[in-house]
Amino acid sequence: MSDVIFREALHDDKTALLKLEQSLIEAERPFNASLKPVGAYYYDLDHLIEDVQTQLLVAEADGEVIASGYVQVRRSKAALNHDQHGYLGFMFVAENYRGQGLNKQIMQRLIDWGKDQDVSAFYLDVYSQNASAIRAYEKLGFAPTLMEMQLNLEN
Ligand SMILES: CC(C)(COP(=O)(O)OP(=O)(O)OC[C@H]1O[C@@H](n2cnc3c(N)ncnc32)[C@H](O)[C@@H]1OP(=O)(O)O)[C@@H](O)C(=O)NCCC(=O)NCCS
Repeated sequence: MSDVIFREALHDDKTALLKLEQSLIEAERPFNASLKPVGAYYYDLDHLIEDVQTQLLVAEADGEVIASGYVQVRRSKAALNHDQHGYLGFMFVAENYRGQGLNKQIMQRLIDWGKDQDVSAFYLDVYSQNASAIRAYEKLGFAPTLMEMQLNLEN
C-alpha cells in the first residue's frame, strides 16, 4: 500500500469530501428506505472544518482523500454523569482501502483528540445491519446502547 497521511480536513478538501459523503450515503442506502433518492446530504462540511469543537480528519494516499471521520465535543444530557461527550461521525474508507486498519487509525486519532479536550465518553450511530462497521467499532471498544426504532406509514 502507498503511504497514507492522516491530517485535519481543509476547505480545499471540500470537493473530495462531498464525494465521500455521497459514497457513504450510498453505502447506507440499503439500511434506510427513507433516504432521499437524490439530493441527500448528511453534513455541513464548512462547519465541520471550521468548528473548534470538532476535529474532522482525512486520510490521503497518492494525493487523494480516501477516508474520513470526525469527532465533535457535545454537551451531554443532564441525567448523565458526564457533562460532555465526543460524537463520532462520517466514518468512511474508500472500497480499495478497506480492511487495512485505516478507519481504526482515524478513530484512534479522534479519540485521542477528544481525550485532550477532557472527553471520556464517546458515542456514534450505526445502522444495526451494518455488520462490518459494527465489528470495526467493537474492536475499538464500543458497545451497543440505544437502539432507534421507526414506524413509517409511507414506506
Ligand atoms: C466501516 C468502515 C469505515 C471500516 O473501515 P476499515 O478501514 O475497513 O476498517 P478497519 O480496517 O480499521 O477495521 C477495524 C477492524 O474491524 C474489522 N473489520 C472491518 N471491516 C470488516 C469486515 N467487513 N468484516 C470483518 N471485520 C471487519 C477489521 O478486521 C479490523 O480489525 P483488526 O484491526 O483486528 O484487523 C468501512 O468499511 C466503510 O467505509 N464502510 C462503508 C461506509 C460505512 O458503512 N461507514 C460507517 C458508517 S456508521
